Order: sequence, then structure tokens, then C-alpha cells
Amino acid sequence: MSALGSENHDLGYPIVVAPSIRTALREFLERQGGRFVVLCDANVASYGHDLTNGLRDTLAFIPVRLGERRKRLSTVEDVLRALLRSGADRKTLIVGIGGGVASDLFGFAASIYMRGVPYAHVATSLVAMVDAAIGGKTGVDLPEGKNLAGTFSNPVAVFAHIDALATLPYRNLREGLSEMVKHAVIEGGELFESLETLAPHAFWRWPWESVVADSLKVKTMIVADDRLEKGERELLNLGHTFGHAIERASNYRVSHGAGVAVGLRAAGLLALRTGRFSRDEHLRLLTLLTLLKLPVVTRRSQTAIFSAMQADKKKREGRLRFVLPRAIGDVEYGVEASNSAVKAVLRRIAELPGGAEFR
Ligand SMILES: NC(=O)c1ccc[n+]([C@@H]2O[C@H](COP(=O)([O-])OP(=O)(O)OC[C@H]3O[C@@H](n4cnc5c(N)ncnc54)[C@H](O)[C@@H]3O)[C@@H](O)[C@H]2O)c1
Ligand SMILES: [Zn+2]
Repeated sequence: MSALGSENHDLGYPIVVAPSIRTALREFLERQGGRFVVLCDANVASYGHDLTNGLRDTLAFIPVRLGERRKRLSTVEDVLRALLRSGADRKTLIVGIGGGVASDLFGFAASIYMRGVPYAHVATSLVAMVDAAIGGKTGVDLPEGKNLAGTFSNPVAVFAHIDALATLPYRNLREGLSEMVKHAVIEGGELFESLETLAPHAFWRWPWESVVADSLKVKTMIVADDRLEKGERELLNLGHTFGHAIERASNYRVSHGAGVAVGLRAAGLLALRTGRFSRDEHLRLLTLLTLLKLPVVTRRSQTAIFSAMQADKKKREGRLRFVLPRAIGDVEYGVEASNSAVKAVLRRIAELPGGAEFR
């Protein structure tokens, strides 16, 4: 690793991970040449200013109020119009700064502004660093559901500004941790072991730069193998069949990361039940989730979760297929399971009645 951090090129564009990406970003902008506009999640405007102040070729610095509820077409329209006011043309590079909502929404806006302009993202949340900013999926929600409008559009570069994690609320950090556990189950080996070693320690002591670089490599390798939504990319849905159903059954009051954490345990249980996964390995997964203080049970009704899964099944040509571990580091996709096995798993992840919900 250089003083500028590490660079990953699996996807054909650089993903720079460093404590501060200030120097790397400046060098990149210089190499790119031309003018650029900064779109910044207003919540992280101070990082945005620190990273970009004094740059000669900035056409505009535009703070945008975001948040999951503002991830919609009307916000995209506001952004497109602000770009127009700033004087951005077909060649202007857009630099987006923020978490996963920012990478989805700014990336989408850039992909349609004047039929598409180059886009670079500076990730400030763990979800954006290890998941959302990588892989080229952009988009927004519609009133009918999440991520229903969007494009496949690769960025020209991604920067993971590790220092920003210091101010990320634990709630949001946890959203990224679930995806990191997913990556670790897919990859196994040292990645899983390093999380097992770190999990009992306070987050501020973690070597985040290497943890993030190693975790995002799992996604870049899978996406590089399979650029569109088929085959291998399915592996990234580990824990998501149960997870999405729990999210939906809660009417999205349970967050995606919380759903996925319970979903990872559920996938482990289903694999155990169908004779794929060993009890020891399942225990390792459960221990890791627990040490990271991720939820492993849900208060949502088993019937509601099961019907949400059936609704999903209808959308997928009548088949519900699971991504299941055979071992830590060996995950298969496209596995069908009987309703009775799925229901048995739902009974195991059901929280005992009473008490407050862990969202
Ligand atoms: N395109 C994809 O492949 C993909 C993959 C995973 C998730 N996503 C999307 O990502 C979104 C979730 O991402 P997220 O969890 O980053 O949400 P987010 O962008 O809303 O960030 C969470 C909160 O943290 C704030 N924040 C961001 N960085 C911060 C920092 N360094 N310090 C303090 N606060 C900070 C944000 O302003 C926001 O309030 C969802 O909309 C999801 O659909 C997309
Ligand atoms: Zn996910």
C-alpha cells in the first residue's frame, strides 16, 4: 500500500481507499483535466469543502439535501437543473460526495444529464465504500418501491474516504457491516478470520483502510466476472431473500442492513437444515454476527415474512431460489428449498414475544 492508500482496478476504473483521499482526488482531477462540478450530500458538506477547496477548475460546489426519502425523481430533477445553472456541459466531470443515497442519485443524474457525463464518487459511508458506489448500478425509488428507476453506468473513479467513518453514526455503520459479513462468508479465508479477530474490539480501533479494501474486493471481483444481473452476481444476494422479505414484512421499518443480518443467519440455518452447511460453521457465522451486535432474530410475523417471500417468488417466474453457503468461503446460488424447510427456518429466527425491536 502506498502513502496514498490502495487502488483496485478490477472493474477497469480506480477505486482508491485511503485515510484521506484528498491528495489522490486532486491528482485524479488534474489528470482528467477540464472543469468539474461537485455534488455533495449536505450532511457531509464539511468533508466536501475540505476535499475540494482551492481547486481552480471547480465550476460549482452544490450541497444537496438527501436522505432515503429524498431518493426520488424530483430530487434528480432539482440536481439536473442545478447542474444546468452551474454551466456544466457534456464534457464536465461530476464529482459526487456522500453515502449510498448520494452514489445512487448523483450517479443516476450524471448518467442522464445531457445523455450522460463522466462521474466520480467519493464514498463517506461504509455502505457506499463496500457496496453502493461499486458496480455501476444507479437509481432512485418510485412510490411503488425501491430502486425502480435507474441505469447501469460505471463511474470513472471511486474514492473511499476512510477518515469520514469517524463521524458515521453506529446505526449507519451497522448497515455496512452486514454487507461486509456477507462478503466475508462468500470469500472465507483470511477475510472471515480478520472479521472474527476484530469483532470483539471497539470500532474506532479497527484498521478500516485494509478492512474496507479487502471487503470491497469481493464485490469488484464478482461484478467484474459478470457485469449484468445474472449468474455469479447472484452470490451478492446471500442473506437477501430472507432479508428483503423481513424488510417488506416490516413495511421498511426494519432497515436493509438489519434485514440482511437476520437473513444471513437464516441462510445459514436453511443450509444447515438441507445438509449443506456444518453446525460448526453455522456457529462461526452466528458468533460473528452476534459479536458485531447485528440482529439475528426478528419480531416480524412468520406469516408476513413468508407471504413477502411468495410475492417475490411470483416476480421471479414462480421460483424462489436461495443463495446458500456450503462452507464459509463456498457459496452456491440458485438453490430451491421446500416451503416446510423455509417455514422451519422462520420459526428459528422469530423473536420471543415482548420486548423492544432491534431495528
Ligand atoms: N447501487 C447499489 O449497488 C447499491 C448497493 C447497496 C446500497 N445501495 C443504496 O445505498 C443506500 C444506503 O446507503 P447509506 O447507508 O450510505 O445511506 P445514506 O447515503 O443515506 O447515508 C446514511 C446517513 O449517513 C449520513 N452520512 C454519510 N456519510 C457520513 C459521514 N461520514 N459522517 C456522518 N454522516 C454521514 C448521510 O447523510 C445519511 O444521513 C440505499 O438507498 C441503497 O438502496 C445501492
Ligand atoms: Zn444489500
